[in-house]
Amino acid sequence: MSDFTAPSSATTASSLGGATTGNSMADASTIVLGIETSCDETAAAVVMGGTDVLSSVVASQLDEHARFGGVVPEIASRAHVETLPQVVAEALERANIDVSRVDAVAATVGPGLVGALLVGVSAAKATALVLDVPFIGVNHLEAHLYAALLDEPHAQFPMLFVLVSGGHTLLVEMTNHDSYRVIGQTIDDAAGEAFDKVARFLGLPYPGGPAIDKASARGKDTAVALPRAMLNDGLDVSFSGLKTAVINYVRANPAISSDDVAASFQRAVVDVLVHKARRAARQINAKTIALGGGVAANSLLRSEMTRAGAADGISVVLPSREMCTDNAAMIASAGWYRLRRGEVTALDAGANPNLKLGAGQR
Ligand code: KG4
Ligand code: ZN
Repeated sequence: MSDFTAPSSATTASSLGGATTGNSMADASTIVLGIETSCDETAAAVVMGGTDVLSSVVASQLDEHARFGGVVPEIASRAHVETLPQVVAEALERANIDVSRVDAVAATVGPGLVGALLVGVSAAKATALVLDVPFIGVNHLEAHLYAALLDEPHAQFPMLFVLVSGGHTLLVEMTNHDSYRVIGQTIDDAAGEAFDKVARFLGLPYPGGPAIDKASARGKDTAVALPRAMLNDGLDVSFSGLKTAVINYVRANPAISSDDVAASFQRAVVDVLVHKARRAARQINAKTIALGGGVAANSLLRSEMTRAGAADGISVVLPSREMCTDNAAMIASAGWYRLRRGEVTALDAGANPNLKLGAGQR
């Protein structure tokens, strides 16, 4: 299990690799332009005061990758180069502001595909240089949390942040905005990856998460008995045995309805995530559970986590569905919180495809 705690602001400068920290540089009127290009969405957004989303534009490359059944890095980088200028222009236009009103430019510096990340990082640094405003490198994982806090900026700490995306499944203890400790994670597949793999096996369209969510509404979630791995064993999770169990069951019972399989699989994933989140929340005395990442858009996960929180007296914070999947509003928001702490990233900083949560920006 990883154990990362963000450095205090006094020590952050060195871990940021030439970045500077100092007095707060952000207030309620500060406008941040956010740029996100870590995977297959080209996104730009304008956010004021950390939570007021003036615009959020997402250009998905889904169609370009769909026929390959997954994201092709070279295609992603090229599509970002071609699309980003229009996406940024549209974000400024929809926000109805002139570019000269931008006070800082934030971009995802990792984790993600390195070629894709570099497109956004280069564009953001160039824009910051031209406008003579700060550049802020943002951790994509941290930004998923800020998607949840957009609607609930006053959510209370200690907070359990449950990050469930295509690449990550993390249970994170947060005692404050800049303090992260990973207390549980998947030992194999990420939750979104499990959704995508099972969907592909069932012949459902890519990406699999939304397709399984939809099929589940038509299926019976008790139709197939599936395992809940490691349920009473610490805070880590495992989804690869579940995926194998689905495959074995369908091969042995080819007449089973795929809606029933989808519903049973979704129920198993949600049971595990909610059970582990409750256990983790109890362990850290959480006042809040915040959900983030693409899988946080899942209907059953949203309703079951909310129900569990109500039963345990813990407030559950969910991002709006459009803010669950990758977008740039969450990047601009995370950037604003960094700027508020006086954290600015040096213009010679690069991208880090393996960036960890709370591990600084390089
Ligand atoms: O956060 P995200 O947009 O990208 C990463 O940073 O990984 O998450 C994408 C993942 C995909 O695996 C997708 O299948 C899953 O989120 N997803 C869902 C739903 N919507 C998206 N999984 C379950 N139910 C959904 N409704
Ligand atoms: Zn993401």
